[in-house]
Amino acid sequence: MKYNFDKRIDRENTCSVKYDLRQTVFEKSDVIPMWVADMDFETPDFIRDAVIRRANHPIYGYTFRDAGYYQPVMEWMQSHHGWTVQRDEIIFSPGVVPALSFAVLAFTRPGDKIIIQSPVYPPIFRTVEDHNREVSNNRLILKENTCLVDFTLLEEQAKDAAMLILCNPHNPAGRCWDKSELERIAQICLKHKVLVFSDEIHADLVMPGFRHQVFANLSPEAAEITITAHAPSKTFNLAGLATSSVIISNPVLRASFSQVIEKMHLGMGNLFGSVASTAAYLHGEPWRLQLIDYLHKNIEYTETFIRNNIPGLLMYRPEATYMIWLDFRNFGLDDTTLKNKLVHEAGLGFNPGREFGPGGEGCMRMNIACPRSTLTEALGRLGNMLIGNLP
Ligand SMILES: Cc1ncc(COP(=O)(O)O)c(C=O)c1O
Repeated sequence: MKYNFDKRIDRENTCSVKYDLRQTVFEKSDVIPMWVADMDFETPDFIRDAVIRRANHPIYGYTFRDAGYYQPVMEWMQSHHGWTVQRDEIIFSPGVVPALSFAVLAFTRPGDKIIIQSPVYPPIFRTVEDHNREVSNNRLILKENTCLVDFTLLEEQAKDAAMLILCNPHNPAGRCWDKSELERIAQICLKHKVLVFSDEIHADLVMPGFRHQVFANLSPEAAEITITAHAPSKTFNLAGLATSSVIISNPVLRASFSQVIEKMHLGMGNLFGSVASTAAYLHGEPWRLQLIDYLHKNIEYTETFIRNNIPGLLMYRPEATYMIWLDFRNFGLDDTTLKNKLVHEAGLGFNPGREFGPGGEGCMRMNIACPRSTLTEALGRLGNMLIGNLP
């Protein structure tokens, strides 16, 4: 094992949202932070080295992205997702959430309906509301510890919606949507002329036994209506560098999207993000494979621990992402009591499920991208809080 994911890293006093905003968010500065979606693992050495090399040049002036930036993105899409992408189909965005906002502005008007699927990553519905569009919630069906799409409802909602924001893979449910599910979604969206924004930021964090399907790559017809957002930030722990790619094969949609970015003058990005992205895509595969293995073992560890020690706690086993969705409803605690107990009794900082929209009540999202020793401690505390006096 070349990389050491067991290493604990002190992230305090680095302006880390996850660590240094604990007092603000939880009113307790020493909770084990298992909320914000970044990882407690070192960003890999080959990325840090590339950034340091560039930082050693004494001038940080205006830069642009050349073929050296785009080629690795294209090659990664081909090798990892079987997706052939042309250079001019890729548009830089300073993050996937900003890209969501650009898409809402580019393709919809105030009052338009945009379909989302809750419980879901909150900025997905917040960007809709922030721009005065209407959320049409195709709430996921929770069934036997997994989440399914309500296709009957989707068919109805698609009749008068302008866009669907798909979270593919899904955060927080951890679903790696399978091809047949995505094909049904595409069929409905094509029939009713609904554009699809496919947020694929977690596409490279898929667990063994599952395969990510790029929505736009389902068919040429699906590609025509799709805006895909992809980034190396989750996979390689680069979120602070605000660098992502939006891929749009339909030239008309691409022009509208680019225009929004141009009008806001947000296309420059930062030079270190480009350098890091290139290093990640060129050299990242061995590291990524070890990361997946470690995360997968963390997921298995969590599942075994809960099965053996916390009867009544339901866990949605992630097929992708490093987020675990936990359903506490069997314990009969209201959301405020549950959060307070987790924070003040157990010293655990999870994301309350309610923040992910309808369907999140009584649930919590736990980020397991941490050293196993941290996870072990956190699960021990969780078990003690819920069951008490574990052996
Ligand atoms: C589904 C999803 N989309 C987007 C983001 C954030 O993207 P960015 O940091 O590039 O804006 C996250 C981060 O947790 C996420 O889970």
